[in-house]
Amino acid sequence: QAALPVTPGQTPIEKQVFTEQVVDQFAHARPEGEVDPKPIHSVPARLLDPAQCPTPHITSMEQYRTMYDQSLNDPDTFWGNMARDLLHWSRPFTQITNGTFEDGDVSWFADGELNASVNCLDRHAQRHPDRIAIIHEADEPGQARSYTYKELLLEVCRVANLLISFGLRKGNTVAIYMPMIPQAAIAMLACARIGCIHSVVFAGFSADSLAERILDANSAVVITADEGRRGGRVIPTKRIVDDALKKCPNVKRVLTFAHTGATGIPFNPTRDVWWHEVVSRQRPYCAPVPVNAEDPLFLLYTSGSTGKPKGVVHSTGGYLLGVAATVKYVFDAHDGDIFGCTADVGWITGHSYLVYGPLSLGITTVFFESVPTYPDASRYWKMVEDHKITQFYTAPTAIRALRRLGDDWVNQCDLSSLRVIGSVGEPINPEAWNWYNEVVGHGRCAVVDTYWQTETGANVITPLPGCTRTKPGSATFPFFGIEVAILDAHTGQELEGPDVTGVLALKRPWPAMARTIAGDHPRYLTTYMHPYRGYYFSGDGATRDADGYIWIRGRVDDVINVSGHRLSTSEIESALVLYPAVAEAAVVGAHDDVTGQSICAFVTLKPQAKVDDTIQLTRDLVLQVRKIIGPFASPKAIMIVDDLPKTRSGKIIRRILRKVVAGEADSLGDLSTVSEPAVVQTLVKMVNEKL
Ligand code: WTA
Repeated sequence: QAALPVTPGQTPIEKQVFTEQVVDQFAHARPEGEVDPKPIHSVPARLLDPAQCPTPHITSMEQYRTMYDQSLNDPDTFWGNMARDLLHWSRPFTQITNGTFEDGDVSWFADGELNASVNCLDRHAQRHPDRIAIIHEADEPGQARSYTYKELLLEVCRVANLLISFGLRKGNTVAIYMPMIPQAAIAMLACARIGCIHSVVFAGFSADSLAERILDANSAVVITADEGRRGGRVIPTKRIVDDALKKCPNVKRVLTFAHTGATGIPFNPTRDVWWHEVVSRQRPYCAPVPVNAEDPLFLLYTSGSTGKPKGVVHSTGGYLLGVAATVKYVFDAHDGDIFGCTADVGWITGHSYLVYGPLSLGITTVFFESVPTYPDASRYWKMVEDHKITQFYTAPTAIRALRRLGDDWVNQCDLSSLRVIGSVGEPINPEAWNWYNEVVGHGRCAVVDTYWQTETGANVITPLPGCTRTKPGSATFPFFGIEVAILDAHTGQELEGPDVTGVLALKRPWPAMARTIAGDHPRYLTTYMHPYRGYYFSGDGATRDADGYIWIRGRVDDVINVSGHRLSTSEIESALVLYPAVAEAAVVGAHDDVTGQSICAFVTLKPQAKVDDTIQLTRDLVLQVRKIIGPFASPKAIMIVDDLPKTRSGKIIRRILRKVVAGEADSLGDLSTVSEPAVVQTLVKMVNEKL
């Protein structure tokens, strides 16, 4: 196998791994006929009936194809028009797209200037000051509160002025660690207003993870809340921040919003300020700072193949265009729509489809602070009924979990306001898709299974509500400007035609793609642009079926997806080996009916380690991962083993571990590379006893 080109100091990415996983995905592909389940679902007639619904922006496959073809054949005209139509530019652009994947220098609208907060607030507040921008569906039912566009603009300006008074200027980074409250969006937009780059850290991350992200981005200011609430439980948000800041001497200011208003919240008078004491004193007008289209709007950390999280950097112009265009076309947004996305603001779905997408189009977005089963399993559906939500967007995990609890919870509620229901974050199995379509959508809504990633910024493969005939489990066809290729994992050759499975790659730059990794452009190139020259490598495997539909098969690298949360196996391994008794750790994803994948860890102990109580040890190891990464990364199973299967050069063979946890120990394949085959037999025996 030819060595891959690597930048000095970087570990080569091994295609071997991709190849193995694609082979496994082939094995798991459903038998023919099932890969291509009939019937194909047509667009529900109700959506195309003007008496019942606003006419979709795209109403036929022919119209989609014409626009799609133009987006590839004449991208300058297509994206130029779209960018002028959907966004407000303080300085019009004359250039559209430049640069290549290979050189890593892609730019869009390079000489244009705009401000994201103006696009999301001012232009709507001027036209419809009283229109609702954000509905906050609080943790306790019945306590929803809303903010109009005008109110939101005034508060964003006050916070922006406060940030200026802290000494922040264009290009500085601000960390945001907040629960699911509108102040998170206010903080993000306040940064955008003055050209600061926000770095939102999901509030489920531990103090250690938060500290790592604050240091990596060199954030000198943190915006947070006293406490969070989730399903009736209280989360000590500010305490976690204080813990993290012990390691971050660079942080000079912490702005804290009193959300629960609890007493006894730690407060450092030289560093901390309370939102309610300082924000209201600020002037509610702040001149927006125009930024270049290519200036970063935000960075967002995500997990990759190696342990260290990557700060994915998004541009202002291209990113905003991508999210505005997909809310318009993929969710078929119309004036007056109420967009209910249940994602947390700390993930890319929250950035694109809670904040920037809906607000850039001037529709209403719903911040859901709770969990789907609090106080009972009709919570989502009650929320849809109460706020007359028109687009509902959630993850397959939630759909699968709610499906198990029965239809009654859904049937109690009036869901007639819904037109589009979306799924994101992991492959959705046809059973879950059908339930979503029939029980939630009553067969009267478009189901959009949207495939995308933190790095793509916006949906890239997805049905469109008014035209795409869907197959349950398939993300269907590329969005405008997206050219899909399925590559042979090993050779990198494009697999043409129908019925092929390989790695999913994209063939040309699109506006919302990530531009770099903060502080590490070489890593951006080695991760995405160099594995297959001339392509963007997604890290996923995919099949193109006989009708040209794309089926996403899951990750082919060392990333696992648990409840739609993306985790790196090596990140979890690094957390485990920090435990004193642990010698080695190997983590693989196991299939899970609800969470998609679950985390399964194998550990070996140091010879001198004295462990009497292995049950206690596994508990301690789970706590260790929770402390270092966060509760959402807790392993579901930890197996303490004598030895791990390795190659002669000492590399752990994860393929075998994956097979063993999948219960496929009888088809382990070629074991000739295993240095001590006996290890495998012992392992299989142990796992069979445990699982
Ligand atoms: C997976 C989330 C199948 C995929 C927006 C991808 C999906 C990773 C889908 C990105 C889908 C996302 N069908 N798989 N509709 N959507 N994925 O960065 O493996 O948190 O690479 O972005 O989620 O996760 P991320």
